[in-house]
Amino acid sequence: MFSKGTYEQLPAHNGSTTKTRHWKTKRVCVILLVFFTLGIGLHGTRFTHSFLGTGRCSRYNSSTGEDLPKHYTLPSGDKIPSVALGLWKAGKNEVGRAVQTAVKSGYQHLDGAWIYGNEAEVGAALKQTDTPREDIWLTSKLWNSFHDPDDVESALDESLSRLGTDYLDLYLIHWPLALNKDGSVYNQELTDDPYPTWKKLEELVDKGKIRNIGVSNFNIRRIQNLTANPLKYPPAVNQVEINFWFPQPELLAWSKEYGILLEAYSPLGGDGRVGETLSVPVVKEIAAELDITPAQVINSWHVQRGTVVLPKSVTPCRVEENLHITKLPDELFEKLETAALLHEPKRGVNPSKGWGIDFDIFD
Ligand code: A2P
Repeated sequence: MFSKGTYEQLPAHNGSTTKTRHWKTKRVCVILLVFFTLGIGLHGTRFTHSFLGTGRCSRYNSSTGEDLPKHYTLPSGDKIPSVALGLWKAGKNEVGRAVQTAVKSGYQHLDGAWIYGNEAEVGAALKQTDTPREDIWLTSKLWNSFHDPDDVESALDESLSRLGTDYLDLYLIHWPLALNKDGSVYNQELTDDPYPTWKKLEELVDKGKIRNIGVSNFNIRRIQNLTANPLKYPPAVNQVEINFWFPQPELLAWSKEYGILLEAYSPLGGDGRVGETLSVPVVKEIAAELDITPAQVINSWHVQRGTVVLPKSVTPCRVEENLHITKLPDELFEKLETAALLHEPKRGVNPSKGWGIDFDIFD
């Protein structure tokens, strides 16, 4: 259970007050006021959207997303919120504030991992909020070097202790790769057959330390390789890269057929491609038509396709913006889906070379 407390205070402004500074500030304020009054008066919020584009925070229509699912129900009966704050690449000294903004804005789902190196700050930030533990869905992931059944529980315990909780709502095998503890060479046997790792995870479900288990970055062949075993709890979730550039329609259809929920990471395209995603003409057209932002179009599209969406942001107004999704009218949804399927699919994340393994982790 997270203990109660208050939100962290933002650092106060430095108090220097020279005349010149006041004068400059006033001038800037007047210019900005005239500019925005004209802008909004002439073109409404769309003007501000298109002017501000993807760079900083744009105004957004705080649609409640009532008509898109707020949760999906997993085989355990647990309800997983359809939008989460993604915590990958959320850096030190910024992730805590992002978590607090998220919780304050109404997020009930945080998607983290041991390897992100920020679980202690996430836990500390959660502790500062008044949120009862059961109101937040916490996901973490088992890192590659801990697949040995003897290492799984201690790896989980470390995440639990850093997050300040005694259970996770969801724990995923982060990659279908078992590295040796020193990270040097991969463990061929456990990589080819993740069942011993999985059995340990099942035990931890029975022990009450995890409520649901799943995988991440598994393709169909690797999931089938796992589910060919006599599993007590089949994988409830597979977290994979999905975005406009890499929409994964086959995996999505197959997962729906087999009752595995997909979670979309890098949903906006990831750091390197977010600008490009939000500038796609059809995305901008739909945003203008519905008076929402391009990021909201993309986030809504993900949930409308039937996946959990995990947009990462450490910018407070973007964190808030990303929570507000809304159903796209069918013809606009189809237009976006068609555009996403029209180009050659291009993955943004593939660490195989960086790990120095002699095969592609997605093969
Ligand atoms: P930041 O964290 O600085 O706000 P993805 O979720 O696909 O991995 O994309 C993450 C990237 O997208 C980050 O660079 C993040 O920036 C940026 N981002 C997140 N939300 C928005 C948004 N609503 N509008 C524009 N950029 C966003």
